[in-house]
Amino acid sequence: METHRRGETISQATAQAGANIAFVKYWGNRDDALRLPLTNSLSMTLDTAVTITTVMFEQGLAQDVLVLNEQVVGGEALTRVARHLDHLRQLAGVSWRARVISRNTFPTGAGIASSASAFAALTVAAAAALGLSLSPRELSVWARLGSGSAARSIFGGYVELHTAARHEDAWAHPIAPPEHWRLADLVAVISREHKSVGSTGGHRLATTSPLNVARLAHVHTALAQARSAILARDLEMLGDVLEQDALTMHAVMMTSQPSLLYWEPGTVAVMHAVRRWRQEGIPAYFTIDAGPNVHIITEPAHVTALQDRLRELPFVQDVIVCYTGAGARLLDVSTPTTPSPT
Ligand code: DP6
Repeated sequence: METHRRGETISQATAQAGANIAFVKYWGNRDDALRLPLTNSLSMTLDTAVTITTVMFEQGLAQDVLVLNEQVVGGEALTRVARHLDHLRQLAGVSWRARVISRNTFPTGAGIASSASAFAALTVAAAAALGLSLSPRELSVWARLGSGSAARSIFGGYVELHTAARHEDAWAHPIAPPEHWRLADLVAVISREHKSVGSTGGHRLATTSPLNVARLAHVHTALAQARSAILARDLEMLGDVLEQDALTMHAVMMTSQPSLLYWEPGTVAVMHAVRRWRQEGIPAYFTIDAGPNVHIITEPAHVTALQDRLRELPFVQDVIVCYTGAGARLLDVSTPTTPSPT
């Protein structure tokens, strides 16, 4: 379908994608420019933490425009989005600039990584608007170029991202669909402050830690245990792996040069509380990304009890609850019949 507005031709699509929480995380890239991780990683896609993005390629638009949560955004965020669109434009042989309108259904700074859902939704929407027919695997490869963890958000449920030496070989694939096992992720918000070193900068420091080698040597075992635990729906086994993996990743972060210490007093307080509650019989396990907020993984039956207990802790500002979610999907597309000239 061809859309005309103010005499211009527009090709547009809208997509949505969920964020994800990694149970076996990656920290460090073998190639930063291509975002080829040092290791595989394994995550669960989240249901209510979603990014919805519309991409409109417009003839005559001088430069890409980014509107994020109703605010026009420039600087680094726009540069990163424009660079990502350049890859897809090149693939499609199209030169039109785009208007990107994106919103998150979850608060920013709440400890849910928005780059995963953002670049998964952007990739799916932009590819459709450009008339590219890409397989889920190819979408995952291209999403990875925008943000490593975005490769996983193309798929729902439990997902593993395979690293590789070449761009086209590093893609994610689903291990089990969302309906296989419904788990909950309660995010205990300790701080909403913008972290001084984000993931992109942090990945560059991983190899400066003497502990990184030990983490790399162990990650295959962790991945195998996590896969088995998911297939067997064994929360105790999965919990052991995900807590240990988060701690080894933070040990690498803390011992890199410069040192990255993401934990706040509240982070440690929640870690202790989760272990105490576990001893009392509540199956709950913590994991922490590149920030101070703590994700608590549990079964749906224990969400209310945990939410109540978390809210009573003095350092906890808020608790956000997500469950296992579906993969990225296209919501709407309208493209011109004639592709735009390069
Ligand atoms: C700690 O995918 O956010 O969450 O490619 O720079 O966007 P960029 O990095 P990103 O890194 C994820 C880091 C992590 C672990 C994980 O999700 O595997």
